[in-house]
Amino acid sequence: MNPQNKIFIDACYGNPVPYTPLWIMRQAGRYLPEYRAIRKQHTFHEMMHTPDLMTEVTLQPIHRYGFDAAIMFSDILVIPEAMGVNFQLIENVGPVFDNPLDTMEKVKSIQLADPAHLQHVFEGVKQIRNELDDSKALIGFSGAPWTIASYMVEGKPSKDYRHIRALMHSESAVFHHLMDTLTESIITYVTEQVKAGADAIQIFDTNASYLSRDVFEVFSFPYLKRIVSAVNALNVPCILFVKGGGYWLDLLKTSNAPVLGIDWTVSLNDAKLTVNDSVSLQGNLDPSILLAPNHIIEKEVCKVLESYGEGNGHIFNLGHGITPDIPLEAVQMVVDTVRAESPKYKLQTIEMDE
Ligand code: CP3
Repeated sequence: MNPQNKIFIDACYGNPVPYTPLWIMRQAGRYLPEYRAIRKQHTFHEMMHTPDLMTEVTLQPIHRYGFDAAIMFSDILVIPEAMGVNFQLIENVGPVFDNPLDTMEKVKSIQLADPAHLQHVFEGVKQIRNELDDSKALIGFSGAPWTIASYMVEGKPSKDYRHIRALMHSESAVFHHLMDTLTESIITYVTEQVKAGADAIQIFDTNASYLSRDVFEVFSFPYLKRIVSAVNALNVPCILFVKGGGYWLDLLKTSNAPVLGIDWTVSLNDAKLTVNDSVSLQGNLDPSILLAPNHIIEKEVCKVLESYGEGNGHIFNLGHGITPDIPLEAVQMVVDTVRAESPKYKLQTIEMDE
């Protein structure tokens, strides 16, 4: 057990745990009525920029469900903002940038994120850590360079991110300048989060799912490796979530991230065999299962636990973020099932340890 007795952190490092810890990507969000109540009174920007609101919304899912980890309420797009590229959240569209990087000149002139524009995040982290129970971990996060870059260049959510994919191949020096600037900015950003009290860092490379393995390996992975080594040097676990990367785990494990997050398209059992027990795994229930009747949710959660099987290095999560249409009872069913069914997979290791 680690000194602060956080089961989540123990599972990140594969240390003995009494049950499988769980949290849910996007757990602080619109499926919660208490989130919607606050959101009615404030814009998304106000919520992200006000440490009191950030704290309140981060803690909501912990109070309701008792998850083992909280994730700070913010967004991956605060980094572009700190580089002077602002966005607005448009209903039914998503984030839309006022001034996307739509010319080569704009990409070339991009500068490091200004930490002064991120102070509110660090204040929020401090406040959350103060108010969060000691047994729970606080996860800080950043988007991966590739995922952030794809939003900055495209300017809005896209079905194929073709403009940045074209830029990557035709103007690779300019692309690498953008990626390099983002990487340095992200390293400073996550370092400050850890200094403010974050117990772990998750890196979201959500848009890796638009890349082939070979392209990912050249254009995204080297930057991820730099970020992971910076986080490793801070002595907190780094969770690398590469959406669509479930079949690249032999490559991803060479990042030296202690935890790899996987989506639902790969079996946990196959994943575990690939990483050879040297890496912990986070995931991977298909979020759409939470729209099914309770007895099906229960069965599918059991399948995920069974698929990982015996061992300590599993953190239960969905394979991607929870959506606003998911019923509260469905989440409760997941929590109850993980708590009831996971200890049996730990018995052997706990006994051996005693
Ligand atoms: O997980 C959490 O609870 C922490 C907070 C969090 C948010 N966004 C809050 C949010 C995290 C970790 C993110 C990450 C994020 N943001 C990613 C990577 C992970 C993923 O889910 O793929 C991406 C690609 C973004 C960019 C982004 N922000 C999009 C595409 C959207 C709109 C999509 C949508 O669901 O409406 C956002 C807005 C956003 N970020 C909301 C929340 C709670 C919805 C805000 C609201 O309208 O109240």
